[in-house]
Amino acid sequence: MERIIVWYLRMSVIYFAAGVIFGMVILLWPAESGYYIPVHVHLNLLGFMSMMIYGVGYHILPRFSGRNIYSPLMMRMQFWLSNAGLIGMSVSWPFVAAGSDIKLFQPLLVISATLSLAGIILFTINILKTVKQA
Ligand code: HEM
Ligand code: HEM
Repeated sequence: MERIIVWYLRMSVIYFAAGVIFGMVILLWPAESGYYIPVHVHLNLLGFMSMMIYGVGYHILPRFSGRNIYSPLMMRMQFWLSNAGLIGMSVSWPFVAAGSDIKLFQPLLVISATLSLAGIILFTINILKTVKQA
């Protein structure tokens, strides 16, 4: 398995552990930690679930098609975009949800969300082109 794919899978399970820890904290101290609900949700769904699908998809889909992945470069770029995006979202979102006075977090959230979206678009193009070759 390619090194970068192993890293997709590693990051996925790290986000899973982080996501459910946030879930437990929200469960135990709901009054203090409500601002972390979007972090919990997106660490689990955009981090664990999506990152696992990226990794497994990049490994399995070219093999199903009997081809190589369309663009290994796009696959590597997406790794950095998706991780920077999700980490940026997770850091900034609680501050934005809490209406923090620190105005830096609003643009950081928008930029991070845009990076996540860009990662998803690279994944979409790469998979579409890969399965089309089949
Ligand atoms: C130990 C595991 C988990 C715990 C303790 C936990 C706990 C929680 C808590 C306390 C909430 C907030 C509920 C509320 O007051 O609105 C929540 C919401 C949520 N959790 Fe988890 N969670 C866990 C795992 C997961 C996993 C694995 C996923 C997804 C793969 C997930 C997806 C969600 C979603 C989507 C919401 C938002 C639901 C809504 O919109 O009301 N959770 N979770
Ligand atoms: C570029 C990536 C994404 C962005 C920018 C984004 C953004 C958002 C925003 C702004 C909200 C509303 C939060 C609020 O104010 O309550 C939200 C909620 C939600 N998103 Fe995402 N999202 C992304 C990806 C995903 C993905 C891939 C999934 C699932 C696989 C997902 C599942 C959810 C769920 C379940 C909620 C409702 C959570 C709640 O009830 O608090 N999101 N998302």
